[in-house]
Amino acid sequence: MSGAVLLTGGAGYIGSHTCLVLLEAGHDVVVVDDLSNASEESLRRVAELTGRPVAFHQVDLRDTEALDAVVAEHPIESVVHFAGLKAVGESVEQPLRYYDVNVGGTVSLLDVLQRRGIRRLVFSSSATVYGEPETVPIDEAAPVGATNPYGRTKLVIEQILADVAVADPAWHMVALRYFNPVGAHPSGRIGEDPRGIPNNLMPFVMQVAVGRRDELVVFGDDYPTPDGTCVRDYIHVMDLAEGHRAALDRLDDLPGYRPVNLGTGSGSTVLEVVAAASRAVGRRLPRRVGDRRAGDVVASFADPSRAQQVLGWQAGRGLDEMCADAWRWQSNNPQGYATP
Ligand code: UFG
Repeated sequence: MSGAVLLTGGAGYIGSHTCLVLLEAGHDVVVVDDLSNASEESLRRVAELTGRPVAFHQVDLRDTEALDAVVAEHPIESVVHFAGLKAVGESVEQPLRYYDVNVGGTVSLLDVLQRRGIRRLVFSSSATVYGEPETVPIDEAAPVGATNPYGRTKLVIEQILADVAVADPAWHMVALRYFNPVGAHPSGRIGEDPRGIPNNLMPFVMQVAVGRRDELVVFGDDYPTPDGTCVRDYIHVMDLAEGHRAALDRLDDLPGYRPVNLGTGSGSTVLEVVAAASRAVGRRLPRRVGDRRAGDVVASFADPSRAQQVLGWQAGRGLDEMCADAWRWQSNNPQGYATP
């Protein structure tokens, strides 16, 4: 492997796990991250776990000249673009900020890559682009249509990538549409460390387990599902990270632009997740049922067959392993990366 892989947002949750997997696979890695929702400590731990250095630059992607200087300094061959804001509720309140950071950051990145002759990109997209699906499992031909500004930034970016790939056929681009990433590296050294009150189920459950929050509120139990709670496709972050490695390794065979789902293909309800987390933690976790959360879709899980065909990848880890690894991370690092 001659060139390096540039990871934008590489200090974040999915970025840091992907960084580790790529280093272990022999790739050289360069990380840019503005640290607005990440800690450099994650990269120190990745270096410690892999025994390999991680080149890091604190850069906001919208600073095109600073980004260009980073790309000029390293022999970048391909890019995995994770960087972006991702809180649904915040995006409703601050839509311009979301379009500026997510879309503006991507345009700036593509500008630099065009200038520097780099034409290989893997993009962090989301199953949120499917909105409320008409049917499950969801394949990549399903209609798209996001229900909030965050989701729309992902859709706009996917459209930009598709347009750029048409304009210049030298591009090789894959948009990975993640379902619900959870869990942590099995060492318990790196994991998910959200700032403030977690929006997502697993980090909230883990903060209840470690005593940072009193109880989980289950957002509605009157949905048309087996136990009345919503169904999602939870995927272990290490499986997800390996999906990125597979995408990079296959990118030469994938000209143009294509979206690929990364999910397990099976759905779990909120109560099934809470039961699995309780098994991992070894006690019943306090919870109560509250109102539905506005905008939640009833059921979302992937048809992962394109990932198998195109990337030669499939998820292998189950819900109990996801919870055991999330709990090892959270119990060893009750305050996340700020744990003394
Ligand atoms: N949930 C609770 N209580 C909580 C948090 C979540 O009951 O405190 C429930 C939700 O109602 C939902 C399930 O747990 O049924 C999963 O919720 P998450 O927020 O973890 O995941 P979502 O599938 O709702 O969110 C994901 C991504 C977002 C994306 C969104 C679009 O995390 O990035 O899909 O729907 F925008």
